[in-house]
Amino acid sequence: MRPIGLTETHMECRYLKDSVPVATDLLAFEKIGERPGQVTLKHPNTDWLLTIHEAGPDAPAKQMHNHWGVRVETTAEVDAAYEYLSAHKDQYKIDQIGKPTYSHGSYSVYFLEPGTNGWEIECYAEALRKDVWKTRAGGVRAPHWETQYPAERFPGRGYVPQGFTHGTLACSDLQQSWKFYTDALGLEVHQANPHVIYVKHPDSKPYVVCAVRPEWKAFSPNFRFTIALASAGAVEEAHRKLAATGKDLGLTELRDVTRDNGRVSFLLSDPGRNWWEIASSN
Ligand SMILES: [Fe+2]
Repeated sequence: MRPIGLTETHMECRYLKDSVPVATDLLAFEKIGERPGQVTLKHPNTDWLLTIHEAGPDAPAKQMHNHWGVRVETTAEVDAAYEYLSAHKDQYKIDQIGKPTYSHGSYSVYFLEPGTNGWEIECYAEALRKDVWKTRAGGVRAPHWETQYPAERFPGRGYVPQGFTHGTLACSDLQQSWKFYTDALGLEVHQANPHVIYVKHPDSKPYVVCAVRPEWKAFSPNFRFTIALASAGAVEEAHRKLAATGKDLGLTELRDVTRDNGRVSFLLSDPGRNWWEIASSN
């Protein structure tokens, strides 16, 4: 498979009316599309779409290790985000906010949005004082934006999310997942530490953190990452190849190819039972 980009990520929530305002008002996303039961959002500085699917009150609760992250420039903004979230937690139905902490080189605040998904507001300014952090692990900690998102476009909060940087998933066998992402999906993998890999496309800044967990839940395809291929023919060819050889690489499920207004796609489940979508770019 020769992907041309990691183009979308999909999140499942309970109610769009609760989860979309968290993304737009607290994380600087903008709504760019809407269909029954789903809303597509984009951060102005990031070519990676976030589609949120409404699954109602019975949508299973997610775990904090299934989270997504945006990045700010300074550690003071992380502290300001903590203050702003704490002051507005009732308004946005946020029932869990962690105090900002340093981990894996980032200074971050984590919180749970009302659809039970985790969000991280992260800052790598301290780590980036050392040059080695700029290129280590695929350069994922280097700035993700070329143009600063102006504070006047996100005023009054004390922090400005500059980019939508990462999503996460879990697995039990890191080596098997690593091989699947490179050999079956054609992505690039960088080791962050013995328990964590970063999965990305060489031309896409956003990345997916895959961590070994003692236990985790498998969710519906509403929670997935989308890889774009150049053409409908390439998607069909990738499906044929995975049907023939995917099991040897740990493929756990392969759904049929579907067509929707010229977009050709299919779903697959990786060795950790995480869903991925392979789609034509048009
Ligand atoms: Fe994270």
